[in-house]
Amino acid sequence: MQHSSSHPMNHQHIVNVAIFASGTGSNADALIRYSQKKDSSYSVVVIVSNKENAGVRSVSEHFSIPFEHIQQADDGASIIALLQKYNVDIIALGWYMKLLPPELVRAFKGKIINIHPSLLPDYGGKGMYGNHVHMAVWKDKMPYTGLTIHYVDEEYDRGQALIQCRIDIRDCVSPEAIAEKVKEAERMIYPLMLNQLCKIIYSQG
Ligand code: GAR
Repeated sequence: MQHSSSHPMNHQHIVNVAIFASGTGSNADALIRYSQKKDSSYSVVVIVSNKENAGVRSVSEHFSIPFEHIQQADDGASIIALLQKYNVDIIALGWYMKLLPPELVRAFKGKIINIHPSLLPDYGGKGMYGNHVHMAVWKDKMPYTGLTIHYVDEEYDRGQALIQCRIDIRDCVSPEAIAEKVKEAERMIYPLMLNQLCKIIYSQG
């Protein structure tokens, strides 16, 4: 944890967050925007992706936040070294499509969170991500879906939940409409949850 001179609350301790993402980056965008508010307790110091040209890259460029591409050959130790270079305290995942190396999960135990677009354990596990989730929910004619923000352990979608929100989708006329409604809720809730977690971690010293 460091003092950040560029942050609006530079007299306070700011938690350094790395976003790991490989998608369009709407969650990254929301997390960064919130970090720029004056009551935010975190700063996004790096965006890490296993896809060199992921949409989230343009988000990093827009906010002038460093973008780091993780190569196939990068192991846990090299990712940990990269995060140390940026003094990262917490990792927030937003559609990071690779399982994190166990070494990294151990090194950041209790400091990695993920967002999943369903009420886990429903519609979770291998192969259940992004639009696959919404399509399955649509096919099951569910009247509701939701989102889960959870700690990350060494398996997919299995860590302890921090928050779950149920979302009424009776007004959604397609899987795309479900996706849009869930994403809207994600963009609102993920930054609030991350900020809360950062406050708790900082109060623990
Ligand atoms: C989000 O809806 C997130 O919940 C989902 O991918 C989307 C990423 O969108 N994550 C998963 O499915 C994780 N299993 P974004 O790239 O626009 O933030």
